[in-house]
Amino acid sequence: MPDYVLTNEELSTMVDTNDEWITTRTGVKERRILKGEGKGTSDMAMIAVNELLAKTNTKPEEVDLIICATVTPDHVFPATANLIAAKTNCVNAFNYDIGAACSGFIYALSTGATFIESGRYKKVIVVGADKMSSIIDYTDRTTCIIFGDAAGAVMLEPTTEPLGIIDFIHKSDGKGVDYLRMKAGGSKYPATHETVENREHYVYQDGKTVFKFAVVNMADYAEKIMKRNNLSSDDVAWLVPHQANKRIVDATSNRMGLTDDKVMMNIERYGNTTSATIPTLLWDYENQLKKGDNLVLAAFGGGFTWGAIYVKWAYDPK
Ligand SMILES: CC(C)(COP(=O)(O)OP(=O)(O)OC[C@H]1O[C@@H](n2cnc3c(N)ncnc32)[C@H](O)[C@@H]1OP(=O)(O)O)[C@@H](O)C(=O)NCCC(=O)NCCS
Repeated sequence: MPDYVLTNEELSTMVDTNDEWITTRTGVKERRILKGEGKGTSDMAMIAVNELLAKTNTKPEEVDLIICATVTPDHVFPATANLIAAKTNCVNAFNYDIGAACSGFIYALSTGATFIESGRYKKVIVVGADKMSSIIDYTDRTTCIIFGDAAGAVMLEPTTEPLGIIDFIHKSDGKGVDYLRMKAGGSKYPATHETVENREHYVYQDGKTVFKFAVVNMADYAEKIMKRNNLSSDDVAWLVPHQANKRIVDATSNRMGLTDDKVMMNIERYGNTTSATIPTLLWDYENQLKKGDNLVLAAFGGGFTWGAIYVKWAYDPK
């Protein structure tokens, strides 16, 4: 988490908004912003990966693969995962990025798990990292109140116990481009003076439409993954939901029949950090997790992209 705290109060001095509106409509009180010239997503991710290596007693050269979910890569290319590997001395890893907006981390997690399951690799690091402040228009009150910057990382390893990533369902629908996108800066509309003047290098969001799709799909797919794994609400220890908006999370947990004490939340302190919400929730709540706990991870994001993962947590808190 970057140090700089951007509060609702400070935002109220930048755009026509107020703490009460932001809190009731989104659940966000403050978010972190990465400050400093030349600092990018990989700088936050590097810290997360270094902490992960230390905590798991892993030598950097043992890492086989780093997958980084991000929509705010340091550069269009090379991949941010390559830069993270270089900064953390993971010299034997091959690395690539996944761009699936707010579902990026769950897409990357199941991809990483599949590499482990294949038996080909033993240590896969999955990173979710975004410097959303680099693509947010701080004159647009409908988006700047939501997003923040952060990075998180997890290590995947093989086990002979029936633990880990048990099941996943992922979906996408490209018609979402009309409702949530950054229009310019890609191959269709490369950067020009005009694209900059028109503020097309920032997130555009039709909040109402995104909200409707998110509420239905996150809840539907969280429920689907429970049903197909015969999990009742009593069986689920935790919902680990992408932190888009507290109201979207509430709709999902209600559908799953879960009480609030089983729902991980940190939107109040960090806002929507896109690819980083789920790994930073796991970091925040790690001490409360027990080996064998059933977790449902659920996300919805730009694309549209969405889905859910069933994880059986693999270790007790230290
Ligand atoms: C963006 C979002 C918070 C807006 O909330 P909403 O309840 O849909 O609000 P609306 O867009 O209907 O706006 C209601 C009113 O508040 C105003 N408003 C919008 N942003 C505001 C702000 N920051 N402060 C104060 N008022 C604001 C609007 O102009 C509108 O005023 P009007 O009724 O006079 O036209 C909500 O739509 C949302 O969370 N969408 C999904 C976002 C998301 O999840 N994105 C990431 C994808 S993973």
